[in-house]
Amino acid sequence: MSDVMQSDQFKSIDVPNRFALAPMTRTSAEPAGTPNSLMADHYEGYAKGGFGLVITEGTYTDNKASQGYANQPGIINDAQISGWKTIVDRVHAAGSKIVVQLMHAGAQFQANRHTDQPQGPSDVVPKGAPLGFYGDQEAWKTPSAMTDADIQTAIDGFAQSAANAKAAGFDGIEIHGANGYLLNQFLSTHFNKREDRYGGPLENRLRLVTEVVSAVRRAVGEDYPVGIRLSQGTVTDPDHQLPEGEAGFRKIVEAVRDAGADFVHTTDGDVNRQNFTAGSESLASVAATVDGIELIINGNIDETNYQDLANQFPGTLLAVGKKALANPDFVQRLKDGKEIADIDFAMLQPKATISNELAWRKQNAA
Ligand SMILES: Cc1cc2nc3c(=O)[nH]c(=O)nc-3n(C[C@H](O)[C@H](O)[C@H](O)COP(=O)(O)O)c2cc1C
Repeated sequence: MSDVMQSDQFKSIDVPNRFALAPMTRTSAEPAGTPNSLMADHYEGYAKGGFGLVITEGTYTDNKASQGYANQPGIINDAQISGWKTIVDRVHAAGSKIVVQLMHAGAQFQANRHTDQPQGPSDVVPKGAPLGFYGDQEAWKTPSAMTDADIQTAIDGFAQSAANAKAAGFDGIEIHGANGYLLNQFLSTHFNKREDRYGGPLENRLRLVTEVVSAVRRAVGEDYPVGIRLSQGTVTDPDHQLPEGEAGFRKIVEAVRDAGADFVHTTDGDVNRQNFTAGSESLASVAATVDGIELIINGNIDETNYQDLANQFPGTLLAVGKKALANPDFVQRLKDGKEIADIDFAMLQPKATISNELAWRKQNAA
C-alpha cells in the first residue's frame, strides 16, 4: 500500500491516512443554522468512504455579520454546538478525524438572518455575480467599512466559535482565510482600501489574519490543532494575485505560524499552478518551504496525480473536493482499485444542497 494510506506523517492531527475531504458549503442546515441529520449522514458518508480527515463546510462564527448564505451552519449557540457534536461523534465512530472550518463571509454576503448589512474591510463589492447555487441574489450589497468595534466583534466570534468547536469534540480548527471571504478580503488589494493599521502594506493587511489566529489559539489552548486556509483567488475572481508575489505569500505563512497556527491549507485551481506576479512557484510549493508549519494542499487532486503529489509534498494531507463529491468513497475506491467517476455538476443544481444531491443520485442510480 502506498504511503498516502499511512497515518504517521502529518503531526498536527493523528489522521488514519493522508486524504482530507475539502471544505464544501452545502447550505443544508436548518434555517437557524443548526446542523441536522441530513448533514450527519453526509459527513459520516465521507468518513466511511475512507477520508482520514473531514473538513466541514464554512461555518459562521457570530450572530452579527459573519453568515453569508441561507441555511449555512453556525457554531454559536447550544443547538448548533449540539448538532455539530452529533456529526463529530458519527465521523469518529467511522474512524476519521474532523475539523470545522470557521468562516466570516465579509463582503461575500448573500443571506444573513441577523442583518441585511454586509461588512468588509472597505465599501468594495466582490467582482462578478453572487453564486446562484448558494441561493438567489441578483447583485452584491455594498458592505460597510468595518469599524474597530466591528473588527473586534469578528475576532471575538472566531475565538468563541473555536472554543465551541473544541467543546463539540472537533479534532481541530481551520480558519477560512481563502476564497474571498473576510480574512482573504483584508489581504486583498481589491477589497482592502483602508488607510489605518489594517490597510496598505502587506504587514497591515495581514494584521486581522494574525489577530484572529492568535485569538483562536488563546481560546483553545496550546495543544489543540489550529490551521488556516489560504488562497490568492476568490470564488468570483480566481486569478486574483497578491501584488507582493511569492515573497509576500511566504511572509503570510510565516506570520500565521508565528501567531500560533499548526498548519496552512493552500487552495488553488491546481496544486501546482504557478500564479504569482513574480516567480515560478505555486502556493503549495512556497508554503512547503516554510519551516515549523504543516501543510494541507488542494486543487484538482485526483486518481491520476495523488501519488506524485504525495511524493512531491511529503508529510502533507491531500484535500479533495470535486472528486469526493463524485465519489464519496474516493479513498476506498483507490484502495480497492475501483473506477473513479468524474463530477457531474447537475448534482449541485439548482442549489448545492444535500437534498438535491440525493435526488440526483436516485435519478442516476444504475
Ligand atoms: C460545492 C462546493 C462548495 C465549496 N465550499 C467551500 C467552503 O465552504 N470553504 C472552502 O474553503 N472552500 C469551498 N469550496 C472549494 C473546495 O474546498 C475546493 O477548494 C475546490 O473544489 C477545489 O478543489 P478540487 O479541485 O479538489 O475540487 C467549495 C467547492 C465546491 C465545489
